[in-house]
Amino acid sequence: MIPTLEWLPTGVNFLDQTKLPLEETYVLATDYKQVAAVIRDMIVRGAPAIGVSAAMGIAIGIDRSTATSLEALTEEVAVISRTLAETRPTAVNLFWGIDEIRNLYNGLAAKNTPIPEIKSAVVSKARRMYDEDIAACKQMGAHGAALLPKEGTVLTHCNAGALATCGYGTALGVIRAAIERGHKIDVFADETRPYLQGARLTAWELLHDNIPTTVLCDNMAGALMRQGRIQAVIVGADRIAANGDTANKIGTYTVAVLAKEHGIPFYVAAPLSTIDLATAHGDQIPIEQRAAIEVTHSNGKQMTPDGAAIQNPAFDVTPAKYITAIITEHGVLQAPYNQSIQRMAAAAKPELTAV
Ligand code: MRU
Repeated sequence: MIPTLEWLPTGVNFLDQTKLPLEETYVLATDYKQVAAVIRDMIVRGAPAIGVSAAMGIAIGIDRSTATSLEALTEEVAVISRTLAETRPTAVNLFWGIDEIRNLYNGLAAKNTPIPEIKSAVVSKARRMYDEDIAACKQMGAHGAALLPKEGTVLTHCNAGALATCGYGTALGVIRAAIERGHKIDVFADETRPYLQGARLTAWELLHDNIPTTVLCDNMAGALMRQGRIQAVIVGADRIAANGDTANKIGTYTVAVLAKEHGIPFYVAAPLSTIDLATAHGDQIPIEQRAAIEVTHSNGKQMTPDGAAIQNPAFDVTPAKYITAIITEHGVLQAPYNQSIQRMAAAAKPELTAV
C-alpha cells in the first residue's frame, strides 16, 4: 500500500507529495511545528490525511512536552491546537482531528490523570485514527462499488486516493473496490490546475496499482461527456454542509454541472468526519485562497504577463442538487440530504447531532 504517512518512534514520516510523481522522498516531522509546516506546505494534503496528520501533530506535541504540571501542559495544548488549526481553513477534517485528541486530553486532564498516562493515551488514539481512516475508506468502497458502471469510464477530479487518506482513498477507494469486484473501469483524471493533484498524484497512484488512467486537461471533460465517453463522476470532499452542499477542489462544481447536463451520475465519497453539521449550507464554508504564483507560473516558468490580476481559490462548492449520492463509511446518502445526513449522523455518532 502507498505509505502516505506513518507514525514512527522518531516522529511522523510523510511521503512528500510536492515532489511526486518524479521523486518518492519522505519528510520526518519530529515536533508539532514541523507537522503544522508539512500540512501548510502541502507535503501532505487531502482532507482525511490532514485530519489524521493534525491528530498526530497534537499527539506528538503532547508526547514531546517537557511540562511537569497539568496546568502547564494544558496551556501548551492550546498553543499546539491553535498552530495546527491555522494551517489550512477548508477541510473540516483538520479541526475534527484536533478536536478528537483535545477532547481526549481534556477528559483525562479533568480526572487528574498522570502526564505519562495522558501521553500514552493520546499517542494510541492518534495511531488508532490512522487505522480507522483506512477501514473507513474500505467501507466506502464496499458501499459505493455497485454504483459504478460494470464497464466504462469514470471521471475524477483532484486526488481523493490513498495519497489523500491514510490509504486506499475515498473516491479512488470506491473505484478500487469496484475493480476488485470485477468491474472493468478506466479512469479519466482531470489534471486539476493549478496544483495538478490529478495529473501528478491521481495518475501516479492509479498507475502504481495498474488501473488504466488517462489524464485530461480540466477543460476537456465537457466534450468527452457529450461524446458519451464518461459513464460516472466520483470525487472526494473537504467539507460537506448539513444540507449536502459540498466543498471540494476548485473545478469540481464545473464538472458537477456538466454531469447533470449530460445525465451522468455525480458521486461524492467522504467519511463522516468530513460532514460539518455546524455549517448549514455551502456559502458558509471558508474557502482557502492560495498564492498567485501557483497560477502565474508553471514549473518555474512565468505564464502570464506582469500586471495580470489573478484569482486562486483552492476549493469551490457544489450545491447538493447536483450530487446523485454521497458515499460514506456508514452507507450511501441520498437527497434530501438535510434529512439523510441528520439520520446517519444520529445513528453513527449521536454526540454530533447534539450540537
Ligand atoms: O488542496 P488539497 O490537495 O488538499 O485538496 C484535496 C481535495 O480537494 C480532495 O478532493 C479532498 O480533500 C478529498 S480527499 C479524500
